[in-house]
Amino acid sequence: METITKNNIFNSQKLRQDFPILSKKANGKPLVYLDSGATAQKPKQVIDAISNYYQSQNANIHRGVHQLSQEITIAYENARATIQKHLNAAVSHEIIFTSGTTESINLVANSFGKKYINASDEIIISEMEHHSNIVPWQVLCEEKGAVLKVIPINENGELRIDEYKKLLCSKTRIVAVTHVSNTLGTINPVKEIIALAHEKSIPVLIDGAQAVPHMKVDIQALDADFYCFSGHKVFGPTGVGILYGKEKWLNKIPPYKVGGGIIKTVTFEKTEYADLPLKFEAGTPHIGGGIGLAAAIDYVNEIGLENIGAYEHELLEYATLKLLAIEGLRIIGTAKEKASVISFVIEEVHPLDVGTILDKQGIAVRTGHHCTQPLMEHFGLPGTIRVSLVFYNTKEEIDVLVNGIQKAIKMLR
Ligand code: ALA
Repeated sequence: METITKNNIFNSQKLRQDFPILSKKANGKPLVYLDSGATAQKPKQVIDAISNYYQSQNANIHRGVHQLSQEITIAYENARATIQKHLNAAVSHEIIFTSGTTESINLVANSFGKKYINASDEIIISEMEHHSNIVPWQVLCEEKGAVLKVIPINENGELRIDEYKKLLCSKTRIVAVTHVSNTLGTINPVKEIIALAHEKSIPVLIDGAQAVPHMKVDIQALDADFYCFSGHKVFGPTGVGILYGKEKWLNKIPPYKVGGGIIKTVTFEKTEYADLPLKFEAGTPHIGGGIGLAAAIDYVNEIGLENIGAYEHELLEYATLKLLAIEGLRIIGTAKEKASVISFVIEEVHPLDVGTILDKQGIAVRTGHHCTQPLMEHFGLPGTIRVSLVFYNTKEEIDVLVNGIQKAIKMLR
């Protein structure tokens, strides 16, 4: 596409113009935003879609006979269909709007847990999970007297599939693992993980929060039972996310939140719930969020996830080489399959101090445990410095980062 590739070279500079915030200064320096793993910036196409919704489309959905309500209901359901097609889900009612990955996982832990988890049952997660894919399962285990089992990782930050196979047993009720580690960048072999669980008829939830912004996810090819992601990490708005669930599971598990919008009939004696997807969408949803998320997905598809993946891989390789040339710098997470996320530590300096000095130079990175404290414990670290790269980042920005780190080291050692 001409706007994006010039002589077959990915035109990141051109794409950057779509992101108003990227021309901003931070601490008086040009902003170098290397924290898209925490939240991605928004292109004007998304900002315009949200603004247009509030300026000229605002009404409640599924409730009114009036024109505005009917039009926005269609737009909202079209947004759902956009996400369905993007994930290659079989039908759009398998797509549930939530407030984000955390709520999606809470929904499954609560609803699936209520129906299918009993004392002594086992739930498998992994050592590299984000807290949002640990705590809901831990709470469920405490409530039900179930047991949390953890797939260990090797020193490169890859899941030990040999150990996973040993954990899968007749007591396992569900497996919940991340597609891409937010801290290490490891891309997990989720297709294999799902197939192994399915051999024993165990359903699998995949936390796709860090995968969907970087790669094509084909739900039917993966055969995931549940798949979650957040809008704001995929260049859409905050406060909206997705739970994909196989129809057979969504039909079997009870609603999570209850109230208006999810019912067929209510009497004081009994409530009959609506069909999918509304059964899981109580209350007025984040309508503008859904519209904005669909605009973000359209935007990503316009660029093409293959183009994005190839360019991000180039950035990852460039940044890895440049960072490793810094004396005393060690990369945490050296899996063979990695997304464009690099965590590192530097001898004799604290990650937070480096982050603070980088910030003074306009460079935004994340420091700390990245909501993966058990993973940090595995590596015996209090935290790391994390750089997360997407298609609007450039090699020049990586050079600025490397200079910034050198400056920080001089100041701190
Ligand atoms: N989960 C987000 C991150 O990794 C917030 O930064």
